Amino acid sequence: METKTQVEDSIIQESLLTCIDLANSDHQSVLSLKQACLDSGFFYVINHGISEEVMDKAFEQSKNFFALPLVEKMKVLKNEKHRGYTPFYDQIPDPENQVQGDHKEGYYIGSEVPRDDPQWDYPFYGPNYVLPGWRETMEKYHQEALRVCKAIAKLLALALDMDADYFDSPEMLGKPISTLRLLHYEGKTDPSKGIYGTGAHSDYGMMTLIATDGVFGLQICKDRNAKPQKWEYVRSIEGALVVNLGDMMQCWSNGLFRSTMHRVILNDQNRYSIPFFLEPNHDCIIECLPTCQSESNLPK
Ligand code: OGA
Ligand code: NI
Repeated sequence: METKTQVEDSIIQESLLTCIDLANSDHQSVLSLKQACLDSGFFYVINHGISEEVMDKAFEQSKNFFALPLVEKMKVLKNEKHRGYTPFYDQIPDPENQVQGDHKEGYYIGSEVPRDDPQWDYPFYGPNYVLPGWRETMEKYHQEALRVCKAIAKLLALALDMDADYFDSPEMLGKPISTLRLLHYEGKTDPSKGIYGTGAHSDYGMMTLIATDGVFGLQICKDRNAKPQKWEYVRSIEGALVVNLGDMMQCWSNGLFRSTMHRVILNDQNRYSIPFFLEPNHDCIIECLPTCQSESNLPK
């Protein structure tokens, strides 16, 4: 008789995701992007303009931080502003299937607004704990990731038959809640035993831009109701970043664009990734987009 693990393994294959060239945003690439968003909301972007140097530095600094003794990391534990360190096993995104917390540690870095800004005391806007050499590297990466997400937001607007600047406006992405998260995974996971790098979840925001060190691990499941669920690996492509749409984008588009469930599996390796989570301004109202509703398709 096949064990659950064998069944899982036999159906895991690689996902063939669309690659969007950000240097070439013609009609055809808008159509490809639209298809990717209807299908899974997962796709790659290339020619994103984030230099190898900026990327390498961010990973180097991330590795330096996680290499610190635990007592040092515990001194910068995540605070009420959603900044700082989260230890191994701290999070359980899928409690129904996880017997222990995620095999990962992380560090949240967010936008910093000036002290004299009226929104200074809003959640997610506070100062970051900054280690030596961090500020420059992480601010640069944060800035670049936001620029890339804004370029993608323009294409998403076009794919939804709206003005290119619909999302990339001061009211929506002028002061976005954007969070960089450094992640370090470690160990061996076993889905059949309920042990994961990151348990199954969908992201809640607008979109996530994921950079990885190339180590395999990310998987997606396009149909969460399928039995058994079919999980597909998302391979890292040199020079490309992975993008996934979050639940907010799914709501905004009235369910048209998908926020797909994903997880991370480990095979006794260290794995580093840097997701960048984009959400709009604090006071942006999320309601069904004008082009995603009609008399026969009312806002859900
Ligand atoms: C996440 C996530 C994937 C990865 O942090 O929400 O899905 O590859 N990360 O680290
Ligand atoms: Ni995620």
